[in-house]
Amino acid sequence: MDRDDLKKEWRELSSAWIKEAREGKNPTRNGLLDQPMLEACGNVEGLRILDCGCGEGRFCRILLEKGAKHTLGIDLCEPLIEAAKELQSDGDVYRVADAQNLSFLGDQTFNIAVSYLNQCDLPDFQANNREIFRILKPGGKFIVANLHPMRSAVGYWHKSEDGEKQHIIVDNYFDEGERHWKLMGAWLTNFHRSLMTYMDGFLKAGFTLERIVEPSAIPEQLAKYPELDDELRVPNFIIYALRKP
Ligand SMILES: C[S@@+](CC[C@H](N)C(=O)[O-])C[C@H]1O[C@@H](n2cnc3c(N)ncnc32)[C@H](O)[C@@H]1O
Repeated sequence: MDRDDLKKEWRELSSAWIKEAREGKNPTRNGLLDQPMLEACGNVEGLRILDCGCGEGRFCRILLEKGAKHTLGIDLCEPLIEAAKELQSDGDVYRVADAQNLSFLGDQTFNIAVSYLNQCDLPDFQANNREIFRILKPGGKFIVANLHPMRSAVGYWHKSEDGEKQHIIVDNYFDEGERHWKLMGAWLTNFHRSLMTYMDGFLKAGFTLERIVEPSAIPEQLAKYPELDDELRVPNFIIYALRKP
């Protein structure tokens, strides 16, 4: 898959994606990932934050509500950036750009960079690491939410004849590369990499690792989003809290 093919997939998904985000119907975002992502960002008051692969801009808007001074959301998909601009206020700016090449941004210009389920979309995640390291101020944070490598390998549920989820079998874990799966009725490509590859990439770029979080559903979220009960059994996502020394 080349860059245009990957871009086309997201363009085809975009209207369903925007609709779901605007209806607030995404349990994994609202019920599972938003809270640990915000905790990892810490106090954002007055800060400049870059969101790589911002989609239709929901996390930029959340960060502004939490007091960020300025958010820049970038995404390769034009319709998603157009949708983000529709809800734009004073503090947020959106731009069509590739997270693997941020040459339009100056060195040491952001306090925090966020990658909210974007590195799994990138053929070259190390290019993104290098660019984020460059644009962050010393002491700045890079907060990366990603598909858990145990799941991106081949992590679908095996079900019994009556549809009950039985288990997930992990296979082909060390076979890194493209994985194709269906999301909202459309084919989407992700890139699977092992935990070791991710960790080596972050450290090689110069980051220090402060924490790994494997989000799991908490009781009040489970009451609201019962479909998150899977998350009590097998981790679907991982958050890396990184810092530029
Ligand atoms: C799983 S979505 C996450 C969107 C948003 N962060 C959220 O959590 O709702 C991944 C996003 O990454 C974008 N994307 C894919 N490849 C990209 C690239 N090379 N550069 C920037 N954005 C990209 C897609 O268009 C899509 O909006």
